[in-house]
Amino acid sequence: MCGIVACIINDEAAPVLLECVRRLEYRGYDSVGLATLSGDIYIKKGEGKIDDVQKRLDLTDIPGNMGIAHVRWATHGLPTGINAHPQTDCKKRIAVVHNGIIENYKELKANLEDEGHIFASETDTEVLSHLIEKYMEMGNGLEVATRLATKDIKGSYAIAVISADEPNKIIGVRKESPLIVGVGEKESFIASDVPAILEHTKNVIYLNDNEMVILRPDGVVIKDMDGNILDNKVNIIDWSSDMAEKGGFKHFMLKEIHEQPDVVKNTLMEFSEIEKVVGKFSKFKRICFVACGTSFHASLVGKYLFETLLGIPTDVLLSSEFLFSEGALDKDTLVILITQSGETADTLKALKIANKKSETLAIVNVLGSTATREADHVIYTRAGPEIGVAATKTYVCQLVSIYMLVSAMSGNDKLLAELQKVPDHMKQALENEDHIIEIAKKYKDANDFFFIGRGFSYPTALEGALKLKEITYIHGEGYAAGELKHGPLALIDDNVPVLAVVPPGESHDKTLSNIEEVKARGAKVIAVGSSKDEVLKSESHDIMGFDGDISEMLSPIPYVVPLQLLSYYISVERGIDPDKPKNLAKCVTVE
Ligand code: F6R
Repeated sequence: MCGIVACIINDEAAPVLLECVRRLEYRGYDSVGLATLSGDIYIKKGEGKIDDVQKRLDLTDIPGNMGIAHVRWATHGLPTGINAHPQTDCKKRIAVVHNGIIENYKELKANLEDEGHIFASETDTEVLSHLIEKYMEMGNGLEVATRLATKDIKGSYAIAVISADEPNKIIGVRKESPLIVGVGEKESFIASDVPAILEHTKNVIYLNDNEMVILRPDGVVIKDMDGNILDNKVNIIDWSSDMAEKGGFKHFMLKEIHEQPDVVKNTLMEFSEIEKVVGKFSKFKRICFVACGTSFHASLVGKYLFETLLGIPTDVLLSSEFLFSEGALDKDTLVILITQSGETADTLKALKIANKKSETLAIVNVLGSTATREADHVIYTRAGPEIGVAATKTYVCQLVSIYMLVSAMSGNDKLLAELQKVPDHMKQALENEDHIIEIAKKYKDANDFFFIGRGFSYPTALEGALKLKEITYIHGEGYAAGELKHGPLALIDDNVPVLAVVPPGESHDKTLSNIEEVKARGAKVIAVGSSKDEVLKSESHDIMGFDGDISEMLSPIPYVVPLQLLSYYISVERGIDPDKPKNLAKCVTVE
């Protein structure tokens, strides 16, 4: 959803900006651009992924020890070179990079055009550079002009601005889009996300909404929008820069799938932190999970757990739909927001609404992200930075956190003991990778897939289908297995493989009947289940099996691993880059 970076350093800025913005490419890869300042402003930008644009234009060939950079996920205006950021004013004395959406840009653009400003692009962002130009021409410095410009705009923004008329200064401002400040040894950074700057500093200040940072060679100053100096805390990040590297794997997604046993272990270590807060949750009579995408699927598992083990009525709402159901919130409801990034706009909007009526708990992976600062309570997952656009390791860590929460609330030590074995079960799925590659090759040309499961396996089916859609571009439909006969069975034939999630347990026999139904219509069946399940083996064409005894209740965590691998290898077979699927971005900061 666009990534921005800015830096003032002791060396040439362009190579550093390029390296930092590369680490944000998961946020957008329609176009990339850099601007540096050395007397004048120098800009290089172009359409396409960073490597392609770098080959064509050599983005680092611009002088100066300070600058700004951007990767774009287009919202307003096609992904062309002209619409790429940085955007400038008429005289090219000001350059701006922006993540977010300026909702009233049409009106502002029309007014500025009436005043004689000539626009080059179709972007909403260009309005900002012209507004800053206007206010500087009225005699204001860059800082005040930027403040006045942001007061004119409606919408969300994280911006970084430079001006040739005020060298040695970069201004950053945030409202409803993430922005962090990195404080290094005689060098300072602004970025949309921590991995961008980990190589340079681990000292990070999180900006809140309506705060401004002024970067200078000798340090940083944070101010509110009235110009008052603030004293934001410096956080020391415990992620290493290696964590944001591929570490020998072909793609981040594959590396992140393989990291899962370790990050689950790390997340399990948070149990004592969870135990400290659960006492506060015993008063609630209802739980309402709110999340998007993969985090929504983790929430669905949460519903089954809360209802099965605690008997607490639990709803699960999509963040973007939440405002249509807020009427049901009250003081007896705990709203649990699941968001790996902590910056998803739909979820943050829901959090704001929920905060007014209920108590809120956020389960988040990114330390210091907006959700962690706005929710009443926070549980951290310990997945480390996730760069691949498709969520994998953050999903399993979200699940682990929810299981730990329910275990702590219910005093269910058996569940906790079983959780400790999950990393070994996951390792087993990873050891079966070659077999999964063969299955991927066999089914890579299908146009449609169904994923079915019941109870605890239903969210796993939904998650398997989402992974398939987003990184292979194959239509994948996740369905509650019992619901097939109420309509979608009409779509099943020998061209539609069905992936059935069938752990041993209560749902097993009924899902087997559904397998019979789809086979009777010609479907090929790929099953995920126990390797000891002879009936399942004989009923399915392919099986991705687990040797260990995994309870149905815990199966969502290890069982998702073969599904992630299957989608990953189908994606690779189809020549797609699974780390950067088309039209998607890692962190969706627009509603
Ligand atoms: C899918 C995926 C998305 C995210 C969704 C919510 O692989 O990554 O569906 O799960 O955009 O993101 P967070 O958890 O950051 O709120």
